[in-house]
Amino acid sequence: MSRILSGIQPSGKIHIGNYFGAIRQHIELQSKHECFYFLANLHALTTTRDKELLEQYSVDLTLDYLALGLDPNKATLFVQSEIPEHTELAWIFATICSPGLLDRAHAWKDAVTKKKKDPTVGLYTYPLLMAADILLYEPDLVPVGQDQKQHIEIARDLAQKFNDTYKLEVFKLPEPMIKEEVAIIPGTDGQKMSKSYNNTIEIFADEAKVKKSIMGIVTDSKGVEDKKDPKSCNVFQLYQLFATATETENLRDKYLAGGFGYGDAKKTLLEKFYQYFGESREKRVALKSDLDYVREVLKNGSVKAQEQAKLVMHKVKAATGLKF
Ligand code: TYM
Repeated sequence: MSRILSGIQPSGKIHIGNYFGAIRQHIELQSKHECFYFLANLHALTTTRDKELLEQYSVDLTLDYLALGLDPNKATLFVQSEIPEHTELAWIFATICSPGLLDRAHAWKDAVTKKKKDPTVGLYTYPLLMAADILLYEPDLVPVGQDQKQHIEIARDLAQKFNDTYKLEVFKLPEPMIKEEVAIIPGTDGQKMSKSYNNTIEIFADEAKVKKSIMGIVTDSKGVEDKKDPKSCNVFQLYQLFATATETENLRDKYLAGGFGYGDAKKTLLEKFYQYFGESREKRVALKSDLDYVREVLKNGSVKAQEQAKLVMHKVKAATGLKF
């Protein structure tokens, strides 16, 4: 049995990129491993500065996880801000981290080079908090999409730096777990699917919105009768995520034969979307009427998570001379 840890920011509605890149693995892993998953609401503060919205996104993300199959009796689901050890350890990492390591972080470089409106110190030190998130739970594996790989490498660097500085093996070095075939799920425009690119297909959006996103997937301008290239088609790439191998082959044949338009392909994808997520969508509606249960799940999860976080902070304080 391995120890697993991962987190998601409650900074918007979850989409199929989050699901296939990370959440599906989170749920599959819960049956065989010891899993900790959390809502990274302190990270979300770097972009969501509206009290009601942040609370709403946090409740929503919990509902999403539960509706998609997270079982709180198997996996521990908790809220980052309920465990002060995360920010405490992030500070300790700040004292051993050279600015060069943070200067090279993609999210920060992007913010500076694309001259985003107000890059903050919170965004700059984002990787320190993420290292703390990970290392407090001593995981073997961190299941994420490709875009988080660099953050896990930074966490490993900091773990090693800490161990070397204090000449003690306090931190275990975790491995990223990235499934190659779903490492980067494309959005409706072919770029990486991301809330910030406005190219997502939300799992729990209303039917009109789901339809609009899927029917709006960008394709080339080939007509119905033309033979089409499945490899370069966004609709086909997304369909593969949901379909069985035989279903994918069937669709491939239709593309190669011609006489099958992109509109038909999108309708096929739309049907598949509902086949795949229909049950979870219904379950989410039912769960929404019992928000006390949702809060209870997070409360219990946070108690359990903090027991683990305290153990590691105890070792960190003992190693650094902060223990009295
Ligand atoms: P976040 O909230 O942006 O994304 C949550 C998870 O979804 C994955 N993902 C994708 N995977 C494949 N294709 C895509 N288009 C796609 N879009 C999103 C992400 O890789 C991620 O696994 N910094 C993290 C949250 C975090 C965290 C942590 C994760 C904070 N602390 C500690 C792991 C461990 C983030 O912003 O993920």
